Parts: sequence; C-alpha cells; structure tokens
Amino acid sequence: MLTTTEKRSLSRLSTVDTAKVVAKVLLPILARGAVIRRPRAVALAQRLDLDRRAVRLLTRLRERYGDAPLRLRLPGRDLVLPLDSSDAHEALARSPEPFSPASLEKRHALGQFQPEGLLISPAEQRAHRREFTEDVLATPYPVHPQAADFTAIVAQTVKPLLSQPELDWPAFTRQWWRLVRQVVLGTAAAGDDLITDRLFALRRAGNWGWLHPRETKHREMFLRHLRGAIDRAQPGSLAARIAENHPGPDIHPESQVAHWLFAFDAAGVAVFRTLALLATHPEQETKALAESAGSAPDSFWELPYLRGCVQESLRLWPTTPLILRESTVDTTLGGHEIGKGATVILFAPYLHRNPAGFTPEIWQDGTAHFHGALVPFSDGPAVCPGRNLVLLLTTQVLATLRREHKIGLLTRARLRPGRRLPSVLDHFALRFALTRRD
Ligand code: HEM
Repeated sequence: MLTTTEKRSLSRLSTVDTAKVVAKVLLPILARGAVIRRPRAVALAQRLDLDRRAVRLLTRLRERYGDAPLRLRLPGRDLVLPLDSSDAHEALARSPEPFSPASLEKRHALGQFQPEGLLISPAEQRAHRREFTEDVLATPYPVHPQAADFTAIVAQTVKPLLSQPELDWPAFTRQWWRLVRQVVLGTAAAGDDLITDRLFALRRAGNWGWLHPRETKHREMFLRHLRGAIDRAQPGSLAARIAENHPGPDIHPESQVAHWLFAFDAAGVAVFRTLALLATHPEQETKALAESAGSAPDSFWELPYLRGCVQESLRLWPTTPLILRESTVDTTLGGHEIGKGATVILFAPYLHRNPAGFTPEIWQDGTAHFHGALVPFSDGPAVCPGRNLVLLLTTQVLATLRREHKIGLLTRARLRPGRRLPSVLDHFALRFALTRRD
C-alpha cells in the first residue's frame, strides 16, 4: 500500500525521458533566444514545427506518468513541469510567495539590463515596485488615461507604412520602435535608435544567461541614457506619468522602464502575427472590420473582438513560452510536494494547445477565462501589468493599418481556416501586400 508521502510525490522522469524533455522542450526555446529572438533559429523552428514535437512529447509523458507535475533532476537544478491546467494556475495564483517570479535564470538573464526590475525583485521590494508599475501603466483599465495621446502617435507612425505597396518586418519594426519610444519617453525620443540599440545588445548578452559575463559598463551607459530620457518627462508620454508619481529612491524607474521597452518587442511581434491571421481568415477579418467601422468615436479604443484576435495570436504562438517560478520554501503544488529552490516551468505551447484554430470569440465569451491556463500574459498577482496597454496599442495599430487598406499575406505560412495552424510562426519572414480599398 502507498504511504501518504508516496501518493503525493511528483512523477520523477527516467533519465531517458529527462533527456528528451531537455532536448525537445527546453533547448529549442533557449536556442531561439529567451530574451531576444534569433531569426535563423526561429525560421528553423517553424520549418521543423518544433513546438508541436514538444507538445506531442509532453502528451505522451502525461499518458505514461499521469497528471501530476513532471519532475526533472538536472545537475544542480530541480525542475518541475505542471501539465494539468489547475496546477499551472495554482503556481501563478500563489506568486510571489511561495512561487517567486524572480527565478535564478531570470535574475541572470534580465539582470543584464534591468538590475532592479520588478520581475526579478526580491520579496521586500516587490510590493511598492508593483504598485508604481500598475499606477503608471494604469493596469486595470482597458483604456489608458493617455489613450488620446497614444492614438495620435499611432496614426503618425503608421502613416508612412501605408504609402508602400508592401510591408515587411524590417519596415514595420522601424516604425514600431519609433512608436514605442514616443509612448514611453516622448516625442524627443522618436529617433533615438541608440537607446533601443543599446538595449538590444544587452538583451543579446541576456540570452546566454549565466554563461555571459555581466556587461556592467554597457549596462550603466544604457541606464544613464534611459534615465536622461525619463527625466525629460515629456507631456503625453509614460515618462510624464512617472514624474507625477514621484517615485521613491527604491523604485529605480530606469530599471522598470528597461523592462517595458524590452516587453514592447513582444507586442510588435503580436501585431505582425495577428495581421497574418486576419489576412488569411476572411470571416474573422470581416467581423473585426465591422467592429472598428461600427464603433462610436468614444468607444473606438476598446475594440473587444480585435483584442481577442491579438490574444489569439499570443495563445497560438506565445511570446513568453516558458513562464518560470521558483519555490521559496518547501511547499506543495496540486497537493504534490515541492522542495525549496525548485524551478516550476509552465510550458505555454502545451497549456495553450486547445482550441487548435483561430478563435477570437473565446476571449469574449468566457471560454478562455474558464480554461484557467491560457496565460499569454501570465496570471495571478504577478500577471503582466502592461496587458491592457499592449492590447490598446496593438489594436490601434492593427485598426489603423487596415482601415483603408486590404492586407494580403505574401509569405507561404500554412495559415488556412479549418486547417491545423503551424506551431511556430516566423514573424521575421512575414510579408504583406497593401492595396487601397475602393
Ligand atoms: C505582447 C506583449 C506582452 C506579453 C505577451 C507579456 C507577457 C508577460 C508575461 C507572460 C509576464 C510574466 C513573466 C513571468 O512571470 O516570468 C509578464 C510580466 C510583466 N510584464 Fe508583460 N507582456 C507584454 C508586454 C508588456 C509591456 C509592453 C509591458 C510594459 C509596458 C509589460 C510589463 C510587464 C511587467 C512589469 C511584468 C512583471 C510583472 C511582475 O513581476 O509583477 N509587459 N508579461
């Protein structure tokens, strides 16, 4: 007969299965770049449909080992992989204690450019940094108080893209970063490519985790540059809201803003992938267009169906494929024992795999909410505080791009209604044709 402890122990994987999870689930994500994506690795991942292989492996392991989280012992690391959506949900709901978002891996990788960032903050500093962040980003509100300023920035930065017959990633991303710098730092930062280039270089170092030495000198140059831009507090930007907030000495706004700039990269990717979905799914495109055309000027900022489209792109191709938590004490997850210092890994492509198609309505009709583990923006007390701002800006960009132009996908990407969608979508390779609507 099993003892209580045995009943509650995790499914410890065999050495062979551990090697398979490392090779098929973890390494492909790290090879693509956890902090900044590597284009060639993303192209290869799409070609080999790597996330589908990873999901298939985890499905097989669940059949063999059961629903309890899988446990992998690697030299010096104790990894726990919840497969059941309620266990995944519990790990996020019980953050930051006993499941801290500030895992060792994140402290190494993100510490390259945001040493005092909220996500990697120790428990003592987390609460007031979170409060500051929520305040400036207006976390609970679908429409940010500065929405009018931001929409004007969107209109002005998207306009040059509309005069070209084609749209590709390099052209889009140039304008996207102009937009982001203005929203975050103000119009004076519109052309400040150096600030984002410095961040990109530090993110590339961050991709290597603890294998890369700390870029202390470059980090200091970047943070000083960023501090100068924040201190200008230009009206209409988030920097102006930071100034109104009078942050205390322990907030380190430049570290917080470094995270925001970094995270806006994922939002640009989401715009491009959503554009590809809409270009290939006429039924959803028609609904989204009808929603924007039918919106009164004062509700034009909300666009719930289009928000659902963006969330679908993030569900189908999560920009944070691994959400990590670290146990701060000996505890349990789903009733199973977890030792202090274990890394809990939520593998979003597995948790997000149903439904298989493009279904924006699940974000409106409550299905996504009841699923419990559709977590493109994470969940619980450390849920992404930028979620609403992201959905506001991405939907405004998408609506502006498509208002007077029909957008067709030029890339062959196997995106067809009713067909299985690819498990990885290489956004770097997407190209679109723009034609004026009659
Ligand atoms: C498509 C765009 C984005 C997605 C999918 C996204 C998703 C996420 C996810 C999954 C997390 C949890 C990470 C973890 O626990 O390891 C997170 C955290 C966070 N995000 Fe976002 N994010 C996006 C954009 C943004 C933007 C633009 C901002 C700021 C303007 C932002 C601010 C933050 C912050 C500050 C945290 C840390 C929260 C905490 O530790 O309490 N995010 N985001």
